[in-house]
Amino acid sequence: MQKEFRITPWEVSGKIDYEKIIKEFGISKIDNKLLERIKKHTGELHLMLRRKIFFANRDLNWLLNEYEKGNKFFIYTGRGPSGPIHLGHLGTWMFTKWLQDKFNVELWFQFTDDEKFLFKNKSFDEIQRWTGENMLDVIALGFNPDKTHFLVDTKHANLIYPEAIKFAKKITLSTVKAAFGFNDSNNIGQVFYTSIQAVPAIIPSVLKRKNIPCLIPLAVDQDPHFRVARDVYPKLGFYKPSIIHGIFLPPLSGISGKMDSGGKGDERAILTTDSPEEVENKIKKYAFSGGQPSIEEHRKKGGNPDVDVSFQYLKMIFEPDDKKLKEIEEDYRSGKMLTSELKTYLIEKINVFLKEHQKRREKAKKEIKKFMFKTRDPLR
Ligand code: TRP
Repeated sequence: MQKEFRITPWEVSGKIDYEKIIKEFGISKIDNKLLERIKKHTGELHLMLRRKIFFANRDLNWLLNEYEKGNKFFIYTGRGPSGPIHLGHLGTWMFTKWLQDKFNVELWFQFTDDEKFLFKNKSFDEIQRWTGENMLDVIALGFNPDKTHFLVDTKHANLIYPEAIKFAKKITLSTVKAAFGFNDSNNIGQVFYTSIQAVPAIIPSVLKRKNIPCLIPLAVDQDPHFRVARDVYPKLGFYKPSIIHGIFLPPLSGISGKMDSGGKGDERAILTTDSPEEVENKIKKYAFSGGQPSIEEHRKKGGNPDVDVSFQYLKMIFEPDDKKLKEIEEDYRSGKMLTSELKTYLIEKINVFLKEHQKRREKAKKEIKKFMFKTRDPLR
């Protein structure tokens, strides 16, 4: 029997049913009408929109209404720095960069070192090291430093904390218990945390002393934080942020669940620091295949791209050419293309990408300062 899936920001398990998520979370599908509306402004659609990788939203029509009235938005997203960055994370941020470029807007990027300290069994120092490491990957994607601001929760506490307590005062213990499945053995920092993640969605409004619309691209597991905080924004005099929800890049082991870069599961994910040999090895050894057990059988029956992790990676990130993707899909389904050929194609794509990424990642070491938000007045 199919195990029930479960999604909270800290746990994703079971086979994920996105239609059910839409219903349960009370979010809306991105339909073709909305896609056309986005395209009017961007000229083209990012592959993650064309292919419904970003599949749902909250209040995106409202955000575009405001935009069309000349009321520009800013983008907010974030990273919990608990370990190395894998390809799944990069997908969301590549899309975020596309949004920043197309709409020419500011990006506020939150590093939740406090969250990971509170939720993971790791020391504060280790989390600080990952914060620095993870920043390199974000910078390497090419965000515009003049329009991108990094917030680190424990470093920008003077800015974040006075706002966080305003959210905290309006969120009850029973609400977070219901939303996240907390119980009496959760530590009290965890209970408070959602109020911290809510804050960057209002920071530019607070600093400029006027309401500015906010768009949050996220993987759908992060939605519960904003569902909890949603009713609070207007009570504090701010707009509710608009959200655009992405699905997860599957782990190498199969299409259910999300990639986990932490713990002992590194063989399950491709990291941005992997060498070409490591990439080759991981894909060949671990990438779940929708192919048949023998070549003869594969030629006869064909493979199943829908469950094939290598094909999914091409679809979600590495093959922007729709025609080429379709060709691969058809050839794989018909048995003309073998799993080994599909994997070789993907390995090459990933390695070309990572070679460039790793170069930029090295250069990024000198650029962190430029991205860190500088509070002019510590008392604000
Ligand atoms: N909690 C997120 C994580 O664990 C990080 C994060 C903070 C975030 N603010 C966000 C993610 C806003 C998406 C949108 O990675």
